[in-house]
Amino acid sequence: MIRTGDNKVLKIISCDKIDDNDEYRLSLFTYLFSEGERYLIKNTLSLEVYELTENEWNAVRDHKTISGKCIREKEIGQLVFSRCLVKNDHDDVRLYDQVIFLLKAMNKRRKGIGSYTILPTTACNARCIYCYEEGIPTCTMDRHTADCLLDFICRTKCDGEIKLRWFGGEPLAAADMISYICSELVKRDVSFTSSMTTNASLMTRELAKEAATLWKLKKVQISLDGEKHDYESRKRYISPERYNYKTVMQSIGFLADEGIRIDLRCNCDQDNLGGMESFLADIKERFGEEKLIRLYFAPLFQERHKDSFIDLEKRILELRSEMKAQGISHSHTKVKSLHLKTEYCMTGDMDGNIVIAPDGRFYSCEHMPENNSWGNIFDGVTDPEKEKALKAAPEKDEKCIRCPFLPKCTPYYKTRCPNWFEKCYEHNCIETEYELRNIGT
Ligand SMILES: C[S@@+](CC[C@H](N)C(=O)[O-])C[C@H]1O[C@@H](n2cnc3c(N)ncnc32)[C@H](O)[C@@H]1O
Repeated sequence: MIRTGDNKVLKIISCDKIDDNDEYRLSLFTYLFSEGERYLIKNTLSLEVYELTENEWNAVRDHKTISGKCIREKEIGQLVFSRCLVKNDHDDVRLYDQVIFLLKAMNKRRKGIGSYTILPTTACNARCIYCYEEGIPTCTMDRHTADCLLDFICRTKCDGEIKLRWFGGEPLAAADMISYICSELVKRDVSFTSSMTTNASLMTRELAKEAATLWKLKKVQISLDGEKHDYESRKRYISPERYNYKTVMQSIGFLADEGIRIDLRCNCDQDNLGGMESFLADIKERFGEEKLIRLYFAPLFQERHKDSFIDLEKRILELRSEMKAQGISHSHTKVKSLHLKTEYCMTGDMDGNIVIAPDGRFYSCEHMPENNSWGNIFDGVTDPEKEKALKAAPEKDEKCIRCPFLPKCTPYYKTRCPNWFEKCYEHNCIETEYELRNIGT
């Protein structure tokens, strides 16, 4: 074994004996990868990774089935104990369902909402040319709505500290409203921390201090688009002479000076890849020594539907290796998590998460289309059927029950997420191979 997995999952799935007379096969939840003289198997349910010899690799890969006796002779019993090899008639998907059921029962969550994603405004000063929010009506939270939101939070929150996620539009365009909500929460003795997704252009040194103290801002994601020219042609700032690449770089520094962790999200498509080398050099020069600032590249959502998507993903992973070579921290430096996710996203846990629009309407996710609201902070649930439908366990799609990455994405993704894309399998292969190639480096 070259990487340990999720101990809770292993306790549930491990098998303690090999039957000589039975036939075994690879589990659906194994991903095989070989390069040069390395032969690796990842168990996508337990997250363990094994390295095999060439002989062992040939034994499991070349034969449709392998007998228990042969497994014992080749001394690869560990692959049975860890459920990389399973009996021929084993039901992989049923085991996956049992694991998720048990993990959810074991991970007792606090009663009530723990995470509120709040859009103080849908207005934005950047007007990015590719934005998926383009065309949504502009609305900013008013004082009455904010007061009702405060009552709603106090009524629905879980015990202990809650998380506020500021989103938009551009949340900093409604900084006064954020300050109002935070100061009222403090008056009401509500314990909270916050994070924000922002273009950062409206951040000043004074506001960064307020963000660190009053907003209790711990983490910020800032959207970038590569080098200066690409950034400025993709963002269409109102007052570009005041808000531009240079001012945003300055704002990043203000936030870092306050000890706030920063993830720079660089949106990519084929057209801005050419400038990424000089962008990396600039980031290295400005923030190379700053441990709080990390960077990652993300393909634009619309690129995922194009034939060129896989090439784009490959280039993004090359850029990630270049970052590593240059000593620039990547947002996902560590293997994401050695815990199997029981939910793909916040919509999977609607009892613990909620998104609130500036007009007070509820959503289960910031990407949900307009017509997917089922209530609001004033009247509570107004469309119980919609709420029930969103909360109901999703059907597993035909494609998903044959996919080794089912444990990674959960069935919800394909059947309900507006961001699902057809090449999800290819995408997961590329990501997994990158991960396997880089274990231990
Ligand atoms: C809609 S913005 C709102 C928050 C804020 N104004 C900002 O710029 O981060 C939220 C996030 O979505 C990203 N985004 C917007 N349109 C996108 C698209 N078409 N594909 C991928 N990401 C996108 C932005 O880069 C940003 O990280």
